[in-house]
Amino acid sequence: MQSRHALRIAITLLFLLIAIRLFWQVTCNREMGDAEVPNRNIIYEVRYVNQTMVTNRKLPIEKQTITKVINCITGGTIRNHKPSKFELFDATYKTKGEDHAKRQNDFVMIYSLRGWGGIDGTADLQASGIGSTLNYAQEAMTTLNSIVDQLKLTLKQDRISILDTACGDMQWMSRFLTIRTDVDYTGLDIVNDLIQHHKQTYKDHFNWSFFHKDIVKDPLDKSYDLVLLRMTLQHLRLHDIMQVLDNINHSGSKYLLSTTFPAVRNNEELTKDISTGRMRYINLELEPIRLQPPICFYRDGPMGDKENHYLGLWRIPMFQVNNCEKEETLMLDKKMISYYCASK
Ligand SMILES: C[S@@+](CC[C@H](N)C(=O)[O-])C[C@H]1O[C@@H](n2cnc3c(N)ncnc32)[C@H](O)[C@@H]1O
Repeated sequence: MQSRHALRIAITLLFLLIAIRLFWQVTCNREMGDAEVPNRNIIYEVRYVNQTMVTNRKLPIEKQTITKVINCITGGTIRNHKPSKFELFDATYKTKGEDHAKRQNDFVMIYSLRGWGGIDGTADLQASGIGSTLNYAQEAMTTLNSIVDQLKLTLKQDRISILDTACGDMQWMSRFLTIRTDVDYTGLDIVNDLIQHHKQTYKDHFNWSFFHKDIVKDPLDKSYDLVLLRMTLQHLRLHDIMQVLDNINHSGSKYLLSTTFPAVRNNEELTKDISTGRMRYINLELEPIRLQPPICFYRDGPMGDKENHYLGLWRIPMFQVNNCEKEETLMLDKKMISYYCASK
């Protein structure tokens, strides 16, 4: 009697062990499979689509002074602003710019040597650094998505034309455009190999075009609803940054969405060479640029990223305000940051 009871317990235990083993195997295999074949593109795209919001907000269109800076996605007020005086953007700047050949040669070298890194294996061509990876650009995609919606309402148009100066490796942008079919896209870059790659790779997309240009030297020959200037100015000399903004101001385009670093206290001249990435951070609201505050701001890069990258939206033509390099603090993305702006 006792031995039969013991046998029943032993069989139950055996089944239990087999079940645990099977469960363990299935779980482990799935995790190993994920680790071996990371399908990160899909994960990132799902994250991006999930963040997409329907908006009924319009952007300001008159050239009046900005009195508050709002969050580009939620519309909530980020900060108030009271400039004493503002005038049309003036590109004159005391130091000299860089020679076109030297500038082009530097960016070709960075491209050829993959000098900015950011190669995470999620795409065939990765040449524009970590900020251009799908992972890093999630918030940029969300911001752009929201702004395209708002522009369609503001301009009462079904389609929006975007000029991307500079397009770089097109990793996140190609995903964005595949979903956002109401955008007519033009991408420029100073690296001709990148442009040739995109012309070939995206030749079936009739409303995407690519041109080899130096945005410092070459004036823009068309106007666009939106000019995108993401993670590019930080690689140029101050004089050349002013020249790019001047070219955009004279293009007759309507809005500019540009990278800016509000936590930067001084805009320094570019001294780093290609061995150190040829860059430093630039705050578009400070001397010598002194743009009036943007219409809206949104974080660029993952939450908690130390770089304090932001995208700001400005109306074109852009205006400058008197500079006082005022320091303020505010809560942005659950983080207290100091920011430096041109407001009085
Ligand atoms: C860091 S990548 C950013 C690319 C892209 N905007 C993004 O968000 O992924 C900077 C790009 O700017 C290009 N670039 C730099 N100076 C330029 C200029 N003067 N004219 C056109 N392209 C330029 C570089 O070749 C590079 O592809």
